[in-house]
Amino acid sequence: MPIHAFETEWVIETRTTAYALGINQAGLLAHRYWGPRLPAPNDYPPAPNPLGWASFNNPAQLTPEEYPTYEDMKFTEPCLMVRFADGGRNLVLRFQRAEVVGNELRITMRDIAEPCSVTLHYRAHEQYDLIERWVSATNAGTTPITIERIWSAQWHVPPGEEYRLSYLHGRWLDETHLRREALAPGVKTLESRRITTGHHSNPWFALDRGNADEAHGAVWFGVLAWSGNWRIAAEVTDFQSTRISIGLNDWDFAWQLTPGETFTTPSSLAGYTAQGFGAASRTLHDFIRDTLLPHGHTLHKVLYNSWEATTFAVDEPSQVALAELAADMGIELFVMDDGWFHGRTTDNAGLGDWWPDTQKFPHGLAPLIARVNALGMDFGLWVEPEMVNPDSDLYRAHPDWVIHTADRPRTTGRNQMILNFARSDVQEYIIGQLDQLLTQHNIAFIKWDMNRNVSEPGWPDAPGDQRELWVRYVYGLYHVWGTLRARHPQVIWQSCSGGGGRADLGILRLADQIWTSDNTEPTTRLAIQHGFSQIFPANTMEAWVTDMGPAYLPLEFRMHVSMCGSLGIGGHLAHWGEAGRAEAARWIALYKEIRAVVQLGDMFRLRSPQEHAFSAVQYLSKDRAEGVVFAFRTYQPLPPQVRGQPPQLPPLYLHGLDPEASYTVEGFAGARAGASWMHAGLQIELPDFGSTVRRIRRL
Ligand code: DGJ
Repeated sequence: MPIHAFETEWVIETRTTAYALGINQAGLLAHRYWGPRLPAPNDYPPAPNPLGWASFNNPAQLTPEEYPTYEDMKFTEPCLMVRFADGGRNLVLRFQRAEVVGNELRITMRDIAEPCSVTLHYRAHEQYDLIERWVSATNAGTTPITIERIWSAQWHVPPGEEYRLSYLHGRWLDETHLRREALAPGVKTLESRRITTGHHSNPWFALDRGNADEAHGAVWFGVLAWSGNWRIAAEVTDFQSTRISIGLNDWDFAWQLTPGETFTTPSSLAGYTAQGFGAASRTLHDFIRDTLLPHGHTLHKVLYNSWEATTFAVDEPSQVALAELAADMGIELFVMDDGWFHGRTTDNAGLGDWWPDTQKFPHGLAPLIARVNALGMDFGLWVEPEMVNPDSDLYRAHPDWVIHTADRPRTTGRNQMILNFARSDVQEYIIGQLDQLLTQHNIAFIKWDMNRNVSEPGWPDAPGDQRELWVRYVYGLYHVWGTLRARHPQVIWQSCSGGGGRADLGILRLADQIWTSDNTEPTTRLAIQHGFSQIFPANTMEAWVTDMGPAYLPLEFRMHVSMCGSLGIGGHLAHWGEAGRAEAARWIALYKEIRAVVQLGDMFRLRSPQEHAFSAVQYLSKDRAEGVVFAFRTYQPLPPQVRGQPPQLPPLYLHGLDPEASYTVEGFAGARAGASWMHAGLQIELPDFGSTVRRIRRL
């Protein structure tokens, strides 16, 4: 039983961790503990009852509340802010009841004056050592309540310590760079205001005490499963209490909670490990693969994507020519990217008109798909369903369907506007269009793109407050995608937003993969993949080999970088020449042999490409019988010879092996105990811009 419930105290246990909360003497629901699981329920500390010692240091301000509201003398970040019909803004929640349903704890609190109640939900994901939290707020009164902020959780780490925050940061073409910095008193905000998750940061955090590494040290980490505007507020109070609030962004947000209505937030999932950042990532990887992804344990096919080869200039002959080359190389899935639909010759026109362009495909898509299938490959297609070009039949018919503000400019980005997916007529139209495509054609894969961020976030004929758009848009997106998924369950979907602009655990309930970045330059890509892997497993990390980057980077290096994820090819195959294609074919063949380990195994980041010019990453099957290690050297000047010895790269120490069992590592003579590979390490030599892949086998 993962949840121990007492009258006013609760302990949620997972396989190795525990989380405790309880009502304190002041009637506040307070945080008690989050860390390693202790022997018995009464080993956890009681709910804290801080004493105020001056009017400026009030007990309420000092209490680590599970879900603080805006009331009393707190001055720290509240999770919930509302406005009642009479203009009052204080919400004073007091405990009403608790219930345990299976592995879920529900604690309901009610305002002392208004019939407004809030239920905090806690679900134990026992075997993953994760706790999921979300909140539902109900208006049982007769007048509307305006919600101005409603976060999913406030996570508290042990007080009185200094913490370091890890987060991802970047921009388009350069996403998911890992950053680590000390948290100082005050609030550090990470957020998206773009209607998508964003290239700039991801709703993920990790806290440690400045001493954790990949394999050791206490780490508290969490995510928000949401694909729209989000916010993380990492706060260190004046009394050295550190907490992370996470949820929907309250910037420009409001929700009219009508009488009888319940609003439910997205989920935040969080965990604790004593085994460092690597273990935190592996926990998320397992959880994502096992519980979220629609096809979490299906091996992804090696794909070819035509974008960088043909851009908008697609037609049947050009695609057939590429498909023939791709099939010869052992590629299993041929994806035609942008440019195939009505009127699409540049990025100026066509979005919204999702039928084949008759000039480019006079006989429709069927002959191309048949040819691709005859070559032994599946066929995949690019769409950008949320978008419309002003130059399209759809926009001409429904100019009011886009997100806009009346009588104001409609700013375009890449010559396009965003369809208002909050509208049910838009949702039904897009479902109809894509359903028809998927029903009429043998399409095994869809790349769902989204190539701009929002402007003028208005909805003139909204049924309620226009600021609900931020959330209703994402509900609409989930509805459209979810409906199509349900109707076409065999299709593999990729989430792309100009690369990694929509990478989160909300979208991974619908999409099996993420297009990691439009940046496919392999040396930069190493750091992007390193950051991406903090949250997402390798099977979700679509990685193409393209022609981007300096010519001196060998094809081998490019292939190895992409073989660390779900391998794809995106270069212009006709330009690769026979020798290039033959070499790529050999790497594809090897990838097929190791992909189960890469896509579904445990990942260990041995040396960070952000910190080191010599980096390495290892994958190991769950039964620890088979593994693979990739190593990369970019430009690393080595010191001059030491006592006649040639300079060497630092040794690599493998991880996760059975210490007692014997293993071989490709390129090294003889078998050694797992403990030896892990503690004595192995010495690899690489030239500048050299790379290697070595298979690990248990005897
Ligand atoms: C942005 C994507 O990230 C690219 O891979 C490509 O699909 C283009 N859009 C097509 O317009």
